[in-house]
Amino acid sequence: MKQQAILNVDVEQGIINKNIYGHFAEHLGRCIYEGIWVGEDSPIPNTNGIRNDVVEALKNINIPVLRWPGGCFADEYHWKDGVGQRENRKRMVNTHWGGVVENNHFGTHEFMMLCEMLECEPYICGNVGSGTVQEMSEWVEYMTFKGESPMANWRRENGQEEPWKLTYFGVGNENWGCGGNMRPEYYSDLYRRYQTYVRDYDGNKIYKIAGGANVDDYNWTEVLMRESARYMDGLSLHYYTVPGDFWTGKGAATGFPEGEWFVTMKKALHMDTLIRKHGTIMDKYDPTKRIGMIIDEWGTWFDVEPGTNPGFLYQQNTIRDALVAGLHFHIFHDHCDRVQMTNIAQTVNVLQSMILTEGEKMIFTPTYHVFEMYKVHHDATKVAIDMKANNYEFDGETIPQVSLTASKNDEGTVHVSICNVDHQNEAEVTIDIRGLAISNVTGRILTADKMDAHNSFEDGENVKPVEFTGFSLDGKGLDIILPPMSVVVLALN
Ligand code: AHR
Repeated sequence: MKQQAILNVDVEQGIINKNIYGHFAEHLGRCIYEGIWVGEDSPIPNTNGIRNDVVEALKNINIPVLRWPGGCFADEYHWKDGVGQRENRKRMVNTHWGGVVENNHFGTHEFMMLCEMLECEPYICGNVGSGTVQEMSEWVEYMTFKGESPMANWRRENGQEEPWKLTYFGVGNENWGCGGNMRPEYYSDLYRRYQTYVRDYDGNKIYKIAGGANVDDYNWTEVLMRESARYMDGLSLHYYTVPGDFWTGKGAATGFPEGEWFVTMKKALHMDTLIRKHGTIMDKYDPTKRIGMIIDEWGTWFDVEPGTNPGFLYQQNTIRDALVAGLHFHIFHDHCDRVQMTNIAQTVNVLQSMILTEGEKMIFTPTYHVFEMYKVHHDATKVAIDMKANNYEFDGETIPQVSLTASKNDEGTVHVSICNVDHQNEAEVTIDIRGLAISNVTGRILTADKMDAHNSFEDGENVKPVEFTGFSLDGKGLDIILPPMSVVVLALN
């Protein structure tokens, strides 16, 4: 049955912060080492040790912000181990992720250099779990103080004359779990204390992000907002889409049954409920929405690829991941008044990544292509598009078959993005366009004919966007036929 949407181009609903399309790179598995950092002597083409292919790929999706160094790693990371001559840096064990040697060759200077190459904002996560207030305070001084001071002098000795611009700083990560197993009352007090010494030097204004809740721990949000709202600019939230059970079997990234496709879509949509419920608590203490909800870890989490180190969280990425990304963006757009940044986990070779590498080889995942197709929404104005979607039914359960979002850019072009999450049936959608006379429509589509279609090092082009022509424009609106398992972006002007 045809589904009817109404697009009201003149009903503006806020700005879609481009940081919603942010990323996260942790010292975990092959994300930083190999995925980003190969060292200056590597045969892999690099600039000052950073892979050229990966930088070019991330620039192509206009990566706006990058979170580092963790994750759980952040609350074990001691930044002073990662500055100075590389050969003299401490070798340590990455106890959380695979027990491998961390040689600290990728530290603050290398991360800031990476952000400069990517032309993106750094988002640094500090250590509350096992670090001191002094250590955190000195890191900020090291990075951002211009004048004469022990840390600023040390930075200059290490080759960086000018302070860096640093806006986003997280005070700990998952402090309810790997970041110290704290109760919200205790973390809230620590947050107040640590953030006091995260100083704004020389006009560098830090946006302070408090460590937020795990999934549906609403009490965590309640306590943090009640006790510490006035000391924070952002509060984080973590939610991963896991089709199975997190501890006993998450489900495979490829070769999964139909039911796991359905449940993955259903669980991805749960992000909307979480934002609404945490958002209601935030509204109670912050009705003007000054404080951003920062969803700094999200994405699919499957069983690791067979034969790989379980601590490296390496998983393939299919058209299913692409749909999960699309659904998340639509939800984030819907809440763009509160959600100011999100960071998908993680950029390269870990969880729902953009890029997979194998030595010098690099491929784009279907998720990468969604980020590329959706860059038209960065900093655009969200406009109203409403639809009562048909049901997509599986095994007696239902979710909406189609999800859509729309935005308008500075040139007046309207972009409509649509996901058909149904793994079997096409979807027919008619969009009644109001508030704009349309003369031209172009489109791109990402789709596949198998639920686990993906790119590999043998065939890196199996899943990629192509031109979309499955629409017709007449006096009444735009008729669209979306194939099963598809993500479409239309440009209307
Ligand atoms: O992204 C992988 C891990 O998931 C992060 O290190 C941690 O914060 C979360 O539990």
